[in-house]
Amino acid sequence: MRTDLHFLSTIGMSREQIEGLLESALWFKTGDDRSKPLAGKSVALVFFNPSLRTRASMQVAIYELGGNPVVLEPGGTSWTLEHRAGAVMDSDKTEHVAEFVRVLERYCVAIGVRTFAALKDWKEERTDPVLNAFARYASVPIINLESAMHHPCQSLADMLTIREKLGSGRKRVVLTWAWHPKALPMAVPNSFALAAAQMGHELVIAHPPAYDLDEELMETSLQLAAAAGGSVEITDDIDAAFSGAEVIYAKSWGSKQFYGNTEQDLATRARYRSKWIVDEEKMAQTKGAIFMHCLPVRRNVIVTDGVIDSAASVVIDEAENRLLVQKAILNLVLGT
Ligand code: CP
Repeated sequence: MRTDLHFLSTIGMSREQIEGLLESALWFKTGDDRSKPLAGKSVALVFFNPSLRTRASMQVAIYELGGNPVVLEPGGTSWTLEHRAGAVMDSDKTEHVAEFVRVLERYCVAIGVRTFAALKDWKEERTDPVLNAFARYASVPIINLESAMHHPCQSLADMLTIREKLGSGRKRVVLTWAWHPKALPMAVPNSFALAAAQMGHELVIAHPPAYDLDEELMETSLQLAAAAGGSVEITDDIDAAFSGAEVIYAKSWGSKQFYGNTEQDLATRARYRSKWIVDEEKMAQTKGAIFMHCLPVRRNVIVTDGVIDSAASVVIDEAENRLLVQKAILNLVLGT
């Protein structure tokens, strides 16, 4: 597998490369680009899970760059897919990724893949087995459209949004866990933490006990933050975290400790429902912070109507920036 071919996470990107991508996204935002780098080319978009923003923004990005998006949904509009090497396919899977990828790349110059965590086996899922199976068999670029561990298109759009709203340079950025009635994957908080560290922000991660992010990913984030002149602090005190914050980034995620045991996770988190929500009272403790969320968001569960409908909320601009950042990624990966 050639890892330099693919766009799987921001790990390995220098700060200069990230800044360059953000500059490119801002260029696309001017509307002045006429280059059509994907003219005559098709890009496959493979969705194992539902999506609004990623799917629509990738389709539009490819179209506006002159290309043709080919959307496939394994198990829906294409065959069910097996990814395990050596699998005896005598159950419910019809096609192997080995053939799927090598056929698709005869038609398409790149393949975007959305595959969430199954939330069953942390040890296995933290290695991104489905995404890496695509990367293993592909000789065209694989673009991660959200895997079990990473959502780099989202985190780069997030960094662009912070820069647009607050200007360049170090900011006090708070990634806060929020209560949600389901255990959710960790890709968004993982990628946000990494990118904020890479950009040299003063990152505070607030979550209740038992909701720690992946240890290796946190270690990487600490090293990247130190190299970029930033910092990473982890706290279970949500009030202290909000104090002086310039960015509040809300997201819920499941516990590694109870991975595969949803009932225990939900029983554990029940006590956090009233406290771990972004509301007007907490936002008042910040330094006039903007409110961010990747969307979709559950109103009055993750964030109150009063906050998401306030002038502090930048969630729609953040979603718009997905389009611009993905144009920059496609241009980087496929442009000549
Ligand atoms: N933020 C995000 O990835 O949204 P979708 O799941 O709708 O693509």
